[in-house]
Amino acid sequence: MKGFVFDLDGVLADTAKYHYIAWKRLADEIGIQIDEAFNEQLKGISRQESLERILEYGNKAAFFSKQETAAMAEKKNQQYVELLDELSPEDALPGVREFLASAQQYNIPCTVASASKSAPFILDKLGIREYFAGIVDPADLTKGKPDPEIFIKAAQLMKLKPNEAIGFEDAQAGIDGIKGCGMYAIGLGTSEQLIGADRVIRDLSEVTVEELICL
Ligand code: G6P
Ligand code: MG
Repeated sequence: MKGFVFDLDGVLADTAKYHYIAWKRLADEIGIQIDEAFNEQLKGISRQESLERILEYGNKAAFFSKQETAAMAEKKNQQYVELLDELSPEDALPGVREFLASAQQYNIPCTVASASKSAPFILDKLGIREYFAGIVDPADLTKGKPDPEIFIKAAQLMKLKPNEAIGFEDAQAGIDGIKGCGMYAIGLGTSEQLIGADRVIRDLSEVTVEELICL
């Protein structure tokens, strides 16, 4: 293996909880109850599509115009970005900094494959942006996860084929995207949540660069 591809929210940063808080607030305001089990299917999904899923779940999709849903998505993002204000290097998930520093020492490139438009901002806040050879811009994508496009682009940024890289994901949509292009998938979470992952770990402190490049 010659490179690593990382999802951001829930893999590098403890920010998946902030997405959930911001969506829950918005859903409450429009009278839709969402819980953490439902939230699992929003992980890895773009802002607009997440909102569509919430509205469909609450049977309210027909009640809002395009303009209204755009304003709702914008409002959720404002709340989310406010929550990010508190973010500091301590919000990097366990093992992240050590793993990235080790990859740098081994000269193994790392890239970020996140649907989030806030990815560069978050990497700066965590103080880990310098470790990445590239960040896929979600604006360049024609399809979101579970389509493999974002992972293929992440491998291209390292001049690698997908099967020469390892992808890390905490969302089922992400695992499906990684496997969809023949990349080795490491899931962060539980094997019940992450079907099809080649390996499941709790966090990055459980793996070393040394062992993974031998795969
Ligand atoms: C990631 C998160 C999703 C989020 C998406 C878009 O994939 O897992 O929960 O909806 O990014 O994030 P953004 O910050 O652009 O709204
Ligand atoms: Mg994620």
